Amino acid sequence: MAEKRILCVGLVCLDVISVVDRYPPEDSDTRCLSQRWQRGGNASNTCTVLALLGAPAAFMGSLAPGHAADFVRGDFQHYEVDLAHVAVHPACTLPISMVISNAATGTRTILHAASNLPDVSAADFEQVNLSQYKWIHWEGRNASEQVKMLQRVEKHNRTCPASERVATSVEVEKPRPELYQLFPHGDVVFVSKDVARALGFCSAPEAVKGLYGRLKPGASLVCAWAEAGADAMGPDGLLVHSDAFAPETVVDTLGAGDTFNAAVILALSRGKPLQAALTDGCRVAGRKCGVQGYDGIV
Ligand SMILES: Nc1ncnc2c1ncn2[C@@H]1O[C@H](COP(=O)(O)OP(=O)(O)O)[C@@H](O)[C@H]1O
Ligand SMILES: *[C@@H]1O[C@H](CO)[C@@H](O)[C@H](O)[C@H]1NC(C)=O
Ligand SMILES: *[C@@H]1O[C@H](CO)[C@@H](O)[C@H](O)[C@H]1NC(C)=O
Ligand SMILES: *[C@@H]1O[C@H](CO)[C@@H](O)[C@H](O)[C@H]1NC(C)=O
Ligand SMILES: *[C@@H]1O[C@H](CO)[C@@H](O)[C@H](O)[C@H]1NC(C)=O
Repeated sequence: MAEKRILCVGLVCLDVISVVDRYPPEDSDTRCLSQRWQRGGNASNTCTVLALLGAPAAFMGSLAPGHAADFVRGDFQHYEVDLAHVAVHPACTLPISMVISNAATGTRTILHAASNLPDVSAADFEQVNLSQYKWIHWEGRNASEQVKMLQRVEKHNRTCPASERVATSVEVEKPRPELYQLFPHGDVVFVSKDVARALGFCSAPEAVKGLYGRLKPGASLVCAWAEAGADAMGPDGLLVHSDAFAPETVVDTLGAGDTFNAAVILALSRGKPLQAALTDGCRVAGRKCGVQGYDGIV
């Protein structure tokens, strides 16, 4: 049987990226080094990296009609990301983000568009044939709906044969208390530096130790912290750490976190221990920071 896919549920948008060698002053008229369109959105980026790493990936999210959406669809196809669970909303527009990527420092400044695209609902998720996936990852968004989706997987796991069980992960990236109800659901929970700080922690190891108790029994908590690498804790209660892998020059950190998540999920889905998965995550994310976009990370 073919390897089962990893499904990522979340947002896709268009990132219009201008690469500069210094951040433009306000009310100036400056030339940039280059410009490109790139498919964006956290779950969408994670799919790209999974596919580049050789894992069959699928995306579930909402799309709209129009040029931006056509570009995004073509790009998913280019990377061979399956789109069986994408719903098109005719009255909506795809969100477009403006990104200034500073090639001198690697920082990225993002201006998000407001969007009227609805998030995936639990009712949409009922249509997913769970037996076709070995792992489902959620970008934390419409949390109360996503809890229902996670509960569907928990129930499925309790009733199906072991070979059909599905592992789950969730990313809590934005410091919005509504998202914290996701902590007790995933088998793996990714918590961002922003969320860790908002909850009063000053480092990844502190955050992992302080938040582990919010998880369900047997789960793992992972926290990435840019140049400081990443820390994690699994059911054995041992804290594991990986340093970051600094590229020769940091040119583009847009999507570093999404890349890290993809590499960690893939490693764990293939049975690697948490420490090895964390190291894979930092290694691949470090390579990503050394290139514009995602091509060239493998
Ligand atoms: N400047 C950097 N140099 C090397 N690795 C980095 C850098 N920034 C991020 N990373 C890698 O990416 C991972 C994810 O970082 P994170 O801060 O969560 O990214 P994001 O900026 O997307 O939120 C880190 O654990 C680290 O391994
Ligand atoms: C995705 O995650 C990054 C941080 O990893 C965040 O800055 C960015 O705003 C997120 N993108 C979207 C479209 O939510
Ligand atoms: C989140 O889900 C609820 C329940 O389906 C819905 O009413 C709400 O509009 C959703 N929010 C978004 C942003 O899609
Ligand atoms: C779900 O997928 C499995 C595995 O591909 C298949 O055997 C089964 O018939 C599918 N179930 C439904 C309801 O389509
Ligand atoms: C589902 O089953 C997998 C595989 O046995 C297990 O690792 C995981 O904890 C279960 N996940 C949920 C959300 O029930």
